[in-house]
Amino acid sequence: MRDEPDQPPEHYFSASPASADERRPLRVHLDGRELELVTAPSVFSGHRLDLGTAVLLDLVGDPPADGDLLDLGCGWGPVALTLAMRSPEPATRRVWAVDVNERARDLTAANAASLGLRGVRTAAPEEVDDEARFAAIWSNPPIRIGKPALHALLLHWLPRLAPGGSAHLVVAKDLGADSLQRWIGEQGEQHGWTAERSGSRKGFRVLEVRRSG
Ligand SMILES: C[S@@+](CC[C@H](N)C(=O)[O-])C[C@H]1O[C@@H](n2cnc3c(N)ncnc32)[C@H](O)[C@@H]1O
Repeated sequence: MRDEPDQPPEHYFSASPASADERRPLRVHLDGRELELVTAPSVFSGHRLDLGTAVLLDLVGDPPADGDLLDLGCGWGPVALTLAMRSPEPATRRVWAVDVNERARDLTAANAASLGLRGVRTAAPEEVDDEARFAAIWSNPPIRIGKPALHALLLHWLPRLAPGGSAHLVVAKDLGADSLQRWIGEQGEQHGWTAERSGSRKGFRVLEVRRSG
């Protein structure tokens, strides 16, 4: 993840952004398709596909065929939309798109609806059932919330990987990707997962967290 140099003063992770919710068109290339989506102020990378997210989506491949999927920190939806477009039978499973920012959730829902992706379900973190388990978690995580909050976030969601499931996280090398990988790996001794670097491009690392089956 890399924040925008022209980032608005309001954090992209505000729960209820105060700026006007002025929707505007967003044309992006996602999963081999040119798409007309919508965006708004006060969401992460609201004017284009973030470079780190693009690296994640280029390097990660297809999600597993079975089981629910999670986009942790959905923003306007590029990861959740791609998960749904790459799912062989999207009607049979859910793609959870979770974000603290209600505007981000609204945009993801609008974008999924406009593409006819009925399996995408947007939710605030507390709306996801504690019992939910995920075959895959893909995320461009919110590094800017700070290390303690980021660690708490990961310790909340990574243990919800189903046995044999995996998470892919994209993190900028200069924002601590390698130390985050080490920290996640250390947690794996307790939680039964391993953390490896599965790819690297344009200054970003893709970390893969694999839970034993
Ligand atoms: C780096 S952005 C990525 C957004 C989007 N996935 C993309 O690639 O453009 C991280 C997202 O995480 C969200 N976020 C921050 N704290 C969160 C939390 N505690 N739980 C869920 N989402 C959170 C932010 O609001 C933001 O939309």
